[in-house]
Amino acid sequence: MRIAITGANGQLGRALQATLARAIRAVGGEKLRDAEVIPLDLPQWDITNPHHTTQLAALRPQLVIHCAAMTDVDGCARNPEQAFRVNAFGTQNVALACQRAGAAMVYISTNEVFDGSSERPYLEFDKTNPINPYGESKLAGETIAARLVHHLYVVRISWLFAPNGNNFVSKILARADQYGTLQVVTDEVANPTYAPDVAEAIWRLITTEHYGTYHLVNEGYCSRYEYAIEILKQAGQAHVPVQPITRDQFKRASRPPTFAPLRNTVGAALGIYLRPWQEALRDYFQQQR
Ligand SMILES: NC(=O)c1ccc[n+]([C@@H]2O[C@H](COP(=O)([O-])OP(=O)(O)OC[C@H]3O[C@@H](n4cnc5c(N)ncnc54)[C@H](OP(=O)(O)O)[C@@H]3O)[C@@H](O)[C@H]2O)c1
Repeated sequence: MRIAITGANGQLGRALQATLARAIRAVGGEKLRDAEVIPLDLPQWDITNPHHTTQLAALRPQLVIHCAAMTDVDGCARNPEQAFRVNAFGTQNVALACQRAGAAMVYISTNEVFDGSSERPYLEFDKTNPINPYGESKLAGETIAARLVHHLYVVRISWLFAPNGNNFVSKILARADQYGTLQVVTDEVANPTYAPDVAEAIWRLITTEHYGTYHLVNEGYCSRYEYAIEILKQAGQAHVPVQPITRDQFKRASRPPTFAPLRNTVGAALGIYLRPWQEALRDYFQQQR
């Protein structure tokens, strides 16, 4: 099995490379005898360059895990054209490469395809309605991939964190060090999700060939404020004062959905669960030591 990973140097891409290498070694056997992971990323592999996607098809992958994206949500709000160029047109190129190679595709999407007005966590088949350019461009990627690729997994995740990544955990700790006090919003709610856990869940998913839409997030959800409190507690910095504020008091370019946690029901039906996010956070801190 030849598996290509786009955005291979990002948080999820790195976790996938580690997980797939380990899993292939552990499983071995006839099916995975010629298994190969092909990591692709900028600057050699630009998903917005159609020539590069022709080259991707020529690599004859059997599966492409498409992680590459413009993930700077505020950057997407400031430059929606670029957001669509990478997240929609780039996905179109990757999907066409899959079509030409006859490969299956895993498209990594986001909780921000939802508007956040729900009163319960979003299920896999709930109606999408993004409210910012990041969510709109990621949803366009979902739609394009579904039109072009027959064997498709759409895997939605939220608030990703990974060792050595640039994420909410690393930002909270850096700001606590720098300012000794924090202000964090209470009215933005989602699921903190640990990249190594998603990578493991994706590995299990692709062995099922059960194509469809999945919400592969760690169990449980919280506000950004509650998340920051838990991060500081686990980092041994519970003494750092955190002032709760609302989104109106925190000016940023993008408008995130208010209540957009995801609920994993389809993966769960296949026996694919992720542990509670607080446990995953403990693992993160152990890896950092
Ligand atoms: N991070 C989150 O909280 C979050 C939440 C929900 C969903 N997701 C989705 O999960 C996926 C992985 O996220 P992540 O946090 O691992 O992202 P990440 O760390 O930002 O990694 C994305 C990777 O894609 C690369 N990339 C950007 N533009 C590209 C292009 N035109 N061609 C090829 N590669 C390109 C980036 O390279 P450079 O670094 O050089 O730009 C980077 O290596 C994305 O699809 C994202 O939309 C993320």
